Amino acid sequence: MKVLVTGGCGFIGSNFVRFALESRPAWRVVNYDLLTYAGNLENLAGVAEGGRYRFVRGDIVDKAAVKQVMEAERPEAVINFAAESHVDRSIKEPERFVQTNSVGAQVMLSLAREYGVRRFLQVSTDEVYGALGATGKFTEQTPLAPNSPYAASKAAADLLCRAACHTFKQDVVITRCSNNYGPYQFPEKLIPLMISNALEDKPLPVYGDGKQVRDWLHVWDHCDAIAAALERGKAGEVYNIGGNNEWENLDLVKLLLKHLGKPESLIKYVADRPGHDRRYAIDQTKIARELGWQPRYTFEAGLGETIAWYQANRPWWERIKSGEYRKYYAEQYSSVAKQG
Ligand code: NAD
Ligand code: TYD
Repeated sequence: MKVLVTGGCGFIGSNFVRFALESRPAWRVVNYDLLTYAGNLENLAGVAEGGRYRFVRGDIVDKAAVKQVMEAERPEAVINFAAESHVDRSIKEPERFVQTNSVGAQVMLSLAREYGVRRFLQVSTDEVYGALGATGKFTEQTPLAPNSPYAASKAAADLLCRAACHTFKQDVVITRCSNNYGPYQFPEKLIPLMISNALEDKPLPVYGDGKQVRDWLHVWDHCDAIAAALERGKAGEVYNIGGNNEWENLDLVKLLLKHLGKPESLIKYVADRPGHDRRYAIDQTKIARELGWQPRYTFEAGLGETIAWYQANRPWWERIKSGEYRKYYAEQYSSVAKQG
């Protein structure tokens, strides 16, 4: 089977390319990625081009370019990972998120249909459901109520997928996953930001009271769930994917510091994110029951491995942090940036 993966140079996409090449010997993978600030060819270092893997640089919003890759490759399946993925950036630049996450998803859907792609998998997020209070979990029936521009642009894509299924009987599956962690995650996201800052003895900026809750899943388990949904999911269905692993941000940051042998005095409370969602938690009964998927990583093992990866791959994140990232960091974290 030939699978066109978009966004395969980002965090989850690059893990997925490796996962697919390792676990699905009959697949050939084409990676279509624009290489934005978040896309990094180093994430696929050691993955040989030719044979079962090919990289094509391009924009999912650019219809002519997508057409060209469809024409040349004739994939049987498309997995749409490509997105602007960071909530804080979406607050500053919502239009870019609508372009990539909503318009780009529609371009991919339309051309997948035009070129007879058998199945389209949209990689979505639990953030489309909005926020939870202290109890309850998101099920696939939870109404969409996105709160950030990022979440709204992803929810729009989910609705366009639904419409394609309904109107054109296109075979589309949507997965909605909770927060991922693991190797190659861009150090703007909570876990790699905190690990890399701690390794540099820089302040760890915790938003608001730090009592927000996220449900953490190892990226490799997410990849396994996406492959299961592509291979065995039912057309038109949504599958929630979660780790059953809720953590308050502050407790998680303290745990990271403990692992790294660094003092809690590095924690610095900073202004809260506008509209910050309080709690996410996923009910993953459906994917467990219907597709037999379960996470394999314990948080202890996954986090230990992840910390070890950031310790061993210091040049990878140091290079990122020394470039354009510095300007972003200075603007986003003006209250602590001067200290670090
Ligand atoms: P990321 O920001 O690390 O990577 C995004 C990738 O998409 C980059 O390689 C970038 O170059 C590429 N890209 C961006 N705009 C593009 C465009 N217009 N055309 C082609 N390529 C483009 O993101 P990630 O964390 O790997 O997330 C991947 C997907 O998973 C996203 O759709 C995101 O919404 C979803 N998701 C992420 C998480 C998470 O915890 N990170 C959780 C659930 C769902
Ligand atoms: P993030 O990794 O941005 O994922 P998301 O907002 O998509 O869930 O953030 C995870 C949590 O960590 C979220 O509640 C915001 C919080 N956070 C901080 O407290 N400080 C930070 O510097 C960042 C980036 C996030």
